[in-house]
Amino acid sequence: MPAIVIVGAQWGDEGKGKATDHLGSRVDYVVKFNGGNNAGHTVVIGDEKYALHLLPSGILTAGCTPVIGNGVVVDIDVLFQEIDGLEARGIDTGRLKVSANAHVIADYNRTLDKVTERFLGSRRIGTTGRGIGPTYADKMNRIGIRIQDLFDEKILTQKVEGALDLKGQILTKVYNRRAPSVDQTVEELLGHADRLAPYVCDTALLLGEALDRDEVVLLEAGQATLLDVDHGTYPFVTSSSATAGGACTGSGIPPTRIDQVIAIVKAYTTRVGEGPFPTELDDDKGEFLRKQGWEYGTTTGRPRRCGWFDTVIARYAARINGVTDFVLTKLDVLTGLEQVPVCVAYDVDGVRHDEMPVNQTDFHHAVPVYEYLPGWFEDISHCRTFEELPPAARDYVEYVEARSGARISVVGVGPEREQAVVRHPLR
Ligand code: GDP
Ligand code: IMO
Ligand code: MG
Repeated sequence: MPAIVIVGAQWGDEGKGKATDHLGSRVDYVVKFNGGNNAGHTVVIGDEKYALHLLPSGILTAGCTPVIGNGVVVDIDVLFQEIDGLEARGIDTGRLKVSANAHVIADYNRTLDKVTERFLGSRRIGTTGRGIGPTYADKMNRIGIRIQDLFDEKILTQKVEGALDLKGQILTKVYNRRAPSVDQTVEELLGHADRLAPYVCDTALLLGEALDRDEVVLLEAGQATLLDVDHGTYPFVTSSSATAGGACTGSGIPPTRIDQVIAIVKAYTTRVGEGPFPTELDDDKGEFLRKQGWEYGTTTGRPRRCGWFDTVIARYAARINGVTDFVLTKLDVLTGLEQVPVCVAYDVDGVRHDEMPVNQTDFHHAVPVYEYLPGWFEDISHCRTFEELPPAARDYVEYVEARSGARISVVGVGPEREQAVVRHPLR
């Protein structure tokens, strides 16, 4: 039975949380496989609005087992805050499973994330300040702390010593900050062990056995294709693998078991943080998208940068992720425009690029080549079939689909669970 991957096609906040929740009742496991509490997913169910950061969006569906995979970096305080917040609202979080191999975001890495950004000045990335980059750097440097280390005081102490030997020096000598002591850090982490223990297991084994039993596993990416550390707009990226390949390494499910890749793509484009963004709008149209789409970060509250739909990016996402289906979200936000520009290629110093330029300088200098499509003024938030959409909205979907490299199976027309037009059932 299938393992299904959900990824973001652009720079994040495409509506992955809503899409995962939409599929929730039809899947047995929802696995977060990368990132940490840098993610922010808003899910609206009836009158209730949930903001999830670290917990997989499947937590909101009764009967679905949420899993934090080995590829995730875990801020344990945030984990318990989220669990407590949901329990207080009557959501059962007891089914949660956490990989013994996931890495822990230690306090010193949160500090390092923030001071590094300040140190970089105009070269900053605009991170979420949650300690994501330094924690993944420790993982690659082999000085990271894993969830399983919390259950062995001797090993934990050795590992914290190893990490602070280096990182303590960086904090004090480079950044003039106080470094926490080994004892203080160990004590803090050990303090979580008892409460964490019931959730921890070999999640790769759990998921492998679930697939053997023909159960359905949904692998939910945080961030998105252009924030992926390998395939994104490096260095203006996050520090994890947010594309479909990352679903395998971040969960322990092999590529041969994945048979569907769903990419979530917004009907326009947004970005939070620094970095290139060819279709970005600095004018009243950008403000229109921000206001209509309520484009303010779920995690940091920062206003999101807004621009038109970019088919070069969608095609790239389709290719890099092996997309089988797109979910086009927030089509309702475009209602009320005379014309809707769509970027179909880039002009870089007089040369046309139909594909993502491999050279970063070219992408920084890319000027969008636009086609202009007629807009619509009808409220589409109540539409539930493709035929109910006004002709101009249908044309927009079909135009974008023809240039994005995969079919558009679902169209979002509002934030609520039911506000979607299903053209091809996702499963
Ligand atoms: P994620 O990080 O990809 O899960 O996306 P976010 O939750 O950060 O941002 C997407 C926002 O758009 C959330 O506030 C959703 O409730 C909202 N949303 C999702 N789909 C739609 C849609 O089709 N229409 C509208 N108007 N809002 C949507
Ligand atoms: P979801 O899952 C949008 C961005 C940050 C910054 C860069 C690096 O909600 O789509 P980091 O803290 O990860 O080191 O920051 O990545 N970023 C996101 N932007 N949505 C997200 O997650 C993001 N997670 C990180 O703004 O530019
Ligand atoms: Mg988000």
